[in-house]
Amino acid sequence: MADSYTRGQKVLHWLLAVLVSFWLLVSGQLAASSEGEQKGMILMFHSGGALIIFALMMWRYSKRRKNLVQPMSSLRSWEQTWSVRIHLAFYILVAVMALTGILQGVFFEQDVRVFGVVNITAGHNESLMALFNLIHNVASKIFLALIALHILAAIKHQFIDKQPFLKRMA
Ligand code: HEM
Ligand code: HEM
Repeated sequence: MADSYTRGQKVLHWLLAVLVSFWLLVSGQLAASSEGEQKGMILMFHSGGALIIFALMMWRYSKRRKNLVQPMSSLRSWEQTWSVRIHLAFYILVAVMALTGILQGVFFEQDVRVFGVVNITAGHNESLMALFNLIHNVASKIFLALIALHILAAIKHQFIDKQPFLKRMA
């Protein structure tokens, strides 16, 4: 196992931290609360951008596998275990969001055109759409809760335990 993250891993971490937070807090909320033509427009960018986020996250996963960094040794053993579990959950959650987003789009009540180019809507099915909408929505709440925990842990180890924790990603 490696001791530090590569430059590429650090750049992708911060780029994706901004993009994922924006998709969860802004783009998704706009998609859910808008209607009609405006919703169609927002969904073009919500779906297209999300597929770029998914591709970047998978690229980052391949970098992670090539350079697996060991948890900071000063953390307690349960903290080390849970930090790794939460990091893995982030990769899984991006995949779940992308998959349920696509499936929701396939059965959506109006056309979902990825970047305005590819229409993924096959035909409206109310119950399947509602099911994938529910999973998309619940997964987004779990994602936000884990991000909050991840940030609080980073702040605690950096400022209360006074460990050079943020430096690992800087
Ligand atoms: C202000 C917000 C954030 C801060 C301060 C922060 C801080 C950090 C730090 C210090 C590490 C290194 C942890 C270690 O090596 O033990 C880390 C790793 C990680 N963070 Fe964040 N992070 C933030 C936001 C996010 C967000 C929104 C995501 C979700 C995509 C995320 C996903 C990850 C992942 C997956 C790792 C493990 C390393 C990897 O696989 O590349 N972080 N973060
Ligand atoms: C990183 C991936 C993604 C994130 C973080 C994300 C996030 C969100 C969030 C937070 C919502 C609001 C949920 C609600 O309040 O009901 C939402 C709604 C929506 N998302 Fe995504 N999404 C992602 C990927 C996708 C993809 C790939 C598609 C389609 C191809 C998609 C289609 C939709 C649709 C159609 C809605 C509106 C649902 C409604 O009208 O209630 N999403 N998204």
